[in-house]
Amino acid sequence: MDLTGKVALVTGGAAGIGAATAKRLGKLGAKVAVVDLDRDGAEKVAAELQGLAISGDVTDPDTMPSVVEQIERELGRLDVVHLNAGVGGGQAGIDDALDVQRYRKLMGVNVDHVVYGTCAAVPALRRQGGGRIVITASLAGIAAMPNDPLYTLSKHAVVGYARAAGAALGRENITVNALCPGFVDTLLLGQAKEEFDAVNFPLLTPEDIADALQAVLTDGQPGEAWIIQPGGQAGAYKFRGVPGAAGQVPPDVVLGRA
Ligand SMILES: NC(=O)c1ccc[n+]([C@@H]2O[C@H](COP(=O)([O-])OP(=O)(O)OC[C@H]3O[C@@H](n4cnc5c(N)ncnc54)[C@H](O)[C@@H]3O)[C@@H](O)[C@H]2O)c1
Repeated sequence: MDLTGKVALVTGGAAGIGAATAKRLGKLGAKVAVVDLDRDGAEKVAAELQGLAISGDVTDPDTMPSVVEQIERELGRLDVVHLNAGVGGGQAGIDDALDVQRYRKLMGVNVDHVVYGTCAAVPALRRQGGGRIVITASLAGIAAMPNDPLYTLSKHAVVGYARAAGAALGRENITVNALCPGFVDTLLLGQAKEEFDAVNFPLLTPEDIADALQAVLTDGQPGEAWIIQPGGQAGAYKFRGVPGAAGQVPPDVVLGRA
């Protein structure tokens, strides 16, 4: 894959998965904007790939429009958007112990930023006649994680968004995909890392996700959610069809095919 002459942005690009995908996109020839709350981290990654560091809080509705505006002004265009910033739930969220501020923050990063980022990027992608949007969801976007229902909620939300937005934007040559990795060896794991290591649980590496990003940019079809597991080949998850009224298949307009 040759991305020479293309411009990409990666949110959460200062660390973990985002740092790996930003570096991969740079290696493939793209000019990359590294967007993160962590200014020093973003500058460090951007310096490595001669990209552009942009510091900002992606939960702020003004951040992603201003990021896209800056990228078009300074780098001339936008082609590939990796909406990757995310945080863990950190609480159960199933009883009156709910910490509302923490819950709003989780939804702000994991869900709102994906919407703000897509809405800000699509006009810029349209100006290029098309482009790619890849959202880092999680296996928790497809399977339930009983130890983190709020994280499960947020990742199911963005898988649904990717599928629906993918069907809507596919007609305009804008492909939207979700990446759904199992556990990845990054700071997000926190204390769970020690527990995984104690039982030799296999973890993905950020580079595995960079491989999957490259694969989805090559082969991803509109709205597909790709599963990534250690030792396996990344690929599109096959969702079961839903029953329609009286067992009828829903009309194409509902399925986004009309
Ligand atoms: N690590 C895993 O096991 C795992 C598994 C599946 C999916 N994911 C998802 O992968 C994505 C990346 O996570 P990671 O594991 O690399 O974590 P990480 O903590 O290593 O990196 C996340 C990055 O996002 C940035 N960020 C957080 N909040 C932000 C905000 N409000 N504005 C701007 N930047 C912000 C952080 O500063 C950090 O650089 C997340 O969406 C996460 O949910 C992680």
